[in-house]
Amino acid sequence: MEEKLLIAKEIISKYGQKHLLQKYNELSKNDKNKLLDEILTMNFNQIEELYKSTKTKPNFENDRLEPIKHITKSELSKEQLEEYTNLGENVIKQGKLAVVTMAGGQGTRLGHAGPKGTYDLGLPSHKSIFEILCDHLKLAREKYNVDIPWYLMTSDENNEETVKFFENNNYFGYPKSAVYFFKQGKLPMLDTKGKILLDEKGMIKQAADGHGGIFEAMRKNAIIYNMKEKGIEWVFIGGVDNVLVKMVDPILTGLVIKEQNLVAGKSIVKACPEEKVGVFCKRNNRPSVIEYTEISKELSEALDENSELLYGESHILCNQFNISLLEKISENKLPYHVAFKKAKYLDENGNIVEPTQPNAYKFEAFIFDAFSLAENMSILRVKREEEFAPVKNATGVDSAETARELYKAYHHIN
Ligand code: UTP
Repeated sequence: MEEKLLIAKEIISKYGQKHLLQKYNELSKNDKNKLLDEILTMNFNQIEELYKSTKTKPNFENDRLEPIKHITKSELSKEQLEEYTNLGENVIKQGKLAVVTMAGGQGTRLGHAGPKGTYDLGLPSHKSIFEILCDHLKLAREKYNVDIPWYLMTSDENNEETVKFFENNNYFGYPKSAVYFFKQGKLPMLDTKGKILLDEKGMIKQAADGHGGIFEAMRKNAIIYNMKEKGIEWVFIGGVDNVLVKMVDPILTGLVIKEQNLVAGKSIVKACPEEKVGVFCKRNNRPSVIEYTEISKELSEALDENSELLYGESHILCNQFNISLLEKISENKLPYHVAFKKAKYLDENGNIVEPTQPNAYKFEAFIFDAFSLAENMSILRVKREEEFAPVKNATGVDSAETARELYKAYHHIN
């Protein structure tokens, strides 16, 4: 330990992060060890690069943006529906589809004390979000007579509680042997001067590295390997917080196979030009998403020949990847985006500070940055009231209340 401490001191002094050992002497033996290991394995050069990135604005001016083709589910002919369904059902019945739920987020806006999936949506049954998602898998299991493997991506912050919740609820009646958990990566949070923040205890304040961290996490945790061993060919990846998400959808699977693409995504029509959602597009001739923070007023309002928004296909975090593409993406590094957030921390005088204004940089990769590794992408436009009921905020728009109402209407619950 003495030797580790000496090396750690050398490293942090080289990178101007000496304060990281500020509380060292007061930590338990275990925490001392953990802190030293974190310092010794941390990529300080990467952290310096990330800090530099907070000073520059991403420049999209030279990107060539175009609308991307989509298929509207409700306009498919009977023959098309039948063809896609057959193609998709074949994959599912042969056990070649796996499902991943991304549940590593912090859910700060919802403010629920615990992983978002453990939230009671307030239905008469008092089902949690995890159970609601599992209901969908149980139906598919019955229909196709196959245990669809369900992978849940958690984070350091919520993994233990998530696993415990599944254990305590007997995996909601889904076979435990078909449920897998894996943790996503994390990155330290920085203050405005580039200093790594300490948490209340005096340990490094780290946060999950964004939903785009999924690819690296799948590779590092041997999830892709594990899927390949099982003969999985297609992987649906969705967020935990859409209570109408259709994780097993033969039409989406059939469409991507028919169009001979390696990735597909579901979209819903953007409600109005100002709606705060990312939209599918082609960027430099590759599939991509334009974020709402990035789109100009002019582009967001532009109409096509049918008077629909030209960039109107909202990305709802419902995507399906071929395993070969997942493997390719996981070997590449996705860029990190900077968010400026409120984060509790320990100051240099040992006081715990709970800021009322954003004070810290958080770095996140986004899943849709991976789309450009495919040449093209299948987009299936679905209906909001059938497939999109997000639980984001405590009240108001996209809250538990709005999601509950959408869920009840769709499932005819009074
Ligand atoms: P959001 O971007 O809505 O973030 O995540 P969030 O953490 O749930 O909520 P806020 O912003 O703190 O209020 C969309 C989906 O991506 C997952 C979330 O769990 C959710 O399913 N996610 C997000 C991760 O799995 N890991 C992350 O690092 C970020």
